Amino acid sequence: MERKPAAAAALVVVVVVVLAAALFSVGEAAHPRRCVTSTYRRKHQASDDMPMDADVFAVPPGRNAPQQVHITLGDQTGTAMLVSWVTVEAEGNSTVLYGRAADRLDLAAEGTTTRYTFYNYTSGFIHHCTLTGLDHGTRYYYAMGFGDTVRTFWFTTPPPPGPGAPLRLGLIGDLGQTPDSNSTLTHYEQHPGDAVLFVGDLSYADKHPLHDNNRWDTWGRFSERSVAYQPWIWTAGNHEIDYAPEIGETVAFKPFSHRYPTPYRASDSSEPYWYSVKMGPAHIIVLSSYSAFGKYTPQWKWLEQELKRVDRETTPWLFISAHVPWYNSNNFHFMEGEPTRVQFEQMAVDARVDIVFAGHVHAYERSHRYSNIKYNITDGKCTPVADRRAPVYIVIGDGGNIEGLADELTWPQPAYSAFREYSYGHAVLDIKNHTHAHYAWYRNHDGNKVTADTTWFTNRYHMPNHDDSVYSNTAYV
Ligand SMILES: *[C@@H]1O[C@H](CO)[C@@H](O)[C@H](O)[C@H]1NC(C)=O
Ligand SMILES: *[C@@H]1O[C@H](CO)[C@@H](O)[C@H](O)[C@H]1NC(C)=O
Ligand SMILES: *[C@@H]1O[C@H](CO)[C@@H](O)[C@H](O)[C@H]1NC(C)=O
Ligand SMILES: *[C@@H]1O[C@H](CO)[C@@H](O)[C@H](O)[C@H]1NC(C)=O
Ligand SMILES: *[C@@H]1O[C@H](CO)[C@@H](O)[C@H](O)[C@H]1NC(C)=O
Ligand SMILES: [Fe+2]
Repeated sequence: MERKPAAAAALVVVVVVVLAAALFSVGEAAHPRRCVTSTYRRKHQASDDMPMDADVFAVPPGRNAPQQVHITLGDQTGTAMLVSWVTVEAEGNSTVLYGRAADRLDLAAEGTTTRYTFYNYTSGFIHHCTLTGLDHGTRYYYAMGFGDTVRTFWFTTPPPPGPGAPLRLGLIGDLGQTPDSNSTLTHYEQHPGDAVLFVGDLSYADKHPLHDNNRWDTWGRFSERSVAYQPWIWTAGNHEIDYAPEIGETVAFKPFSHRYPTPYRASDSSEPYWYSVKMGPAHIIVLSSYSAFGKYTPQWKWLEQELKRVDRETTPWLFISAHVPWYNSNNFHFMEGEPTRVQFEQMAVDARVDIVFAGHVHAYERSHRYSNIKYNITDGKCTPVADRRAPVYIVIGDGGNIEGLADELTWPQPAYSAFREYSYGHAVLDIKNHTHAHYAWYRNHDGNKVTADTTWFTNRYHMPNHDDSVYSNTAYV
């Protein structure tokens, strides 16, 4: 009789020890990783672009008023801001006045003007002006349109590179200009970030006859309400290529490069389509899925050098943005990212990249930390495996565009896929400090903004062995 409690206690101890061993000693297999395919299905809706006379495309009032105002960083860290806008009636004035108060624009910068033609379309006067000498983390007001109609906007520069400051990063991709695009932007504006990392495919003008470039103009007017007030970091997508030899247009990226310049020289890049920026605690590397990326090409060489320049003590968070996903379990664009994955994945794992963002697939998907870098052509082995050194892959190509949703998943859901859903929406990454970032994906739920996938990411440099898949908290209807 006396011995029974002792025996029970011993049994409990054994069970606890065995469980603990199971949990803590087998490493990667310790935590069961959930693979969730959301059951939410949006109501069927047409994906046509908003009509040319939609309110969001209205031309601002006033003679030759600046329109399509947008900003992006003008140098690597945001002590310069690159302001762009279009005037249609006349070239007008390319000067931007700026300062710390709307009524005290005591600084001036002189811009440049460009135009381009595309088949029988001629663009308006496209102005680009870099505001320099800015302080970090500071609100500036800026105005342009002198001599005609002056318009005034404002932005806040990013915090200086450093591990301390928090950063809130909006994540939007494949936005287009449909009613769904408008919902996505509206939902993002309800709690906007400090900047948007845009993963490619802006206007989808190329879906219209002759790549109707008026649709680049409408997209510029539609997106102005956000991108005139905070920098969007641009990634080139396939709908930016605008390669149309059938109508004599053979210069890739012509409309995009005239309208959306990037600060690529500041990161020693030779082309606008791959470059890096540093905002507060984040070092963001933008790659081009549609520029040569094989070994020894300019992009490959630049990335190799750029990864050496990353300093995780100063910028603990390291991200890559590339339009085509390396991990995607949707039938749409299935395996299109394989060449880039094969070329860059080992580099990303070695560099302990925290997250790789992509778009292209018009759906949402978040991966567990997986890698597939063991491939060896002589033994043929090639299987993605759980790997805490590896990035998380996020596909956020769900802005809401004219092509509609990518609504065919592959089955079974692969083990690397943590959450997937074909809806429209956007995400926000809230970097809290050098070790933790909170992440949330917001679905456009029949017109409403609904939090549908949230998790915490721990930093791959400062907490390299931590299994952050334990935080995954998906609320799938
Ligand atoms: C360009 O050509 C198309 C097709 O012929 C025509 O519909 C359109 O009006 C033309 N646009 C201009 C600006 O001439
Ligand atoms: C443009 O406007 C600014 C601000 O009013 C003025 O200083 C500058 O002289 C103007 N430039 C031209 C070319 O008119
Ligand atoms: C777009 O959304 C805004 C709200 O953010 C609304 O005011 C506007 O009417 C919408 N336009 C269209 C064409 O849906
Ligand atoms: C490839 O794998 C085979 C079989 O495991 C091994 O014998 C060979 O050494 C590997 N080759 C390289 C270059 O690692
Ligand atoms: C970083 O942020 C996380 C989440 O807010 C918090 O739990 C943690 O204590 C913070 N770490 C430091 C060093 O402040
Ligand atoms: Fe795309």
